[in-house]
Amino acid sequence: MTQLPGLLDTEAIRKDFPILDRVLHDGKKLVYLDNAATSQTPRQVLDVLTEYYEQHNANVHRGVHVLAEEATALYEGARDKVAEFINAPSRNEVIFTKNASESLNLVANMLGWADEPYRVDSDTEIVITEMEHHSNIVPWQLLAQRTGAKLKWFGLTDDGRLDLSNIDEIINEKTKIVSFTLVSNIMGTVNPVEAIVRRAQEVGALVCIDASQAAPHMPLDVQALQADFVAFTGHKMCGPTGIGVLWGRQELLEDLPPFLGGGEMIETVSMHSSTYAPAPHKFEAGTPPISQAIGLGAAVDYLTSIGMDKIAQHEHAITEYAVKRLQEVPDLRIIGPTTAEDRGAAISFTLGDIHPHDVGQVLDEQGIAVRVGHHCARPVCLRYGIPATTRASFYLYSTPAEVDALVEGLEHVRNFFG
Ligand code: ALA
Repeated sequence: MTQLPGLLDTEAIRKDFPILDRVLHDGKKLVYLDNAATSQTPRQVLDVLTEYYEQHNANVHRGVHVLAEEATALYEGARDKVAEFINAPSRNEVIFTKNASESLNLVANMLGWADEPYRVDSDTEIVITEMEHHSNIVPWQLLAQRTGAKLKWFGLTDDGRLDLSNIDEIINEKTKIVSFTLVSNIMGTVNPVEAIVRRAQEVGALVCIDASQAAPHMPLDVQALQADFVAFTGHKMCGPTGIGVLWGRQELLEDLPPFLGGGEMIETVSMHSSTYAPAPHKFEAGTPPISQAIGLGAAVDYLTSIGMDKIAQHEHAITEYAVKRLQEVPDLRIIGPTTAEDRGAAISFTLGDIHPHDVGQVLDEQGIAVRVGHHCARPVCLRYGIPATTRASFYLYSTPAEVDALVEGLEHVRNFFG
């Protein structure tokens, strides 16, 4: 069995994930390499969810009865855990949403309704990048259309990195907000946050970071990032679906207007007007995703117990091995960085002129789960002149043997298609 330095004890970790024992068609053991789409859920999180529904289920912040108080304590306790996990200066800076897309839409809409000095209008510019997930493109297109602001973006280099050669022109005195991904979901590229934030700060622009592909995989410190907003989602980091996070700087959350109105986000309501609760509740209208937030809290406990540094180290070793092994496959072209430096554990590739959907199907027949398509990052495919890619993405339970299985699986694909 291949041993690599820095690997976690995957034999022990995999016991926490019942689904990884699944045997699929023809007795093929599941090789789950679609972690950038969603991660699997450990028993420790499943147990917390079951216990919540068996013992504590109630609505939060409303009731005076025991269950309501327990549910509220668990829900707010999850906020504390997330705040600590991302080193937020205050728990009140952690807003629960339903996913990272909602978090990013929330930022765009806060700005869309804001007065000066945050107002976005036809004299201002919004900056994104060509490697964003659609959820960090479309909300800004909508905001630009609504306000007349100009949408600009950083292009990509041939090796899948951001082209920052014109950074002073792209981010300028008119820029109101720069929103970019920390780690590309399609290419795995880790972006140079510091250079972008420094330039944004020089011109007084706000910075929003999509950390969906970072929070599950590396230590995330919102204070070190020096951003104004950081968005991520629970289901890619061992938590349930239906829970996302938006972290925002407290003073911004106090100044900026709410987006969704409803119960729980108010202080008082009359038929003429309303006043709003302080953040984070101002941005959490209606019954929130209670069990999902509690499940995310349990996922944070789980990841912390293993150690985010160790998880990052493990993934680096697996990625380095995968990048090397994949490049041994004839006709395989990696779309994105071809070294393990400054890249995460999502690796996209094409295989000759075999369509990625065919690649994915033949891999699936061998029990290997990958994602195929444009990965909600279609501009990246357009940039590199390809219709789609096959993407393998790894996590804390991934093993070198699974990389070998993928490489072997790709040999089958090549044989199958001649
Ligand atoms: N954003 C997820 C992915 O990249 C769904 O696959």
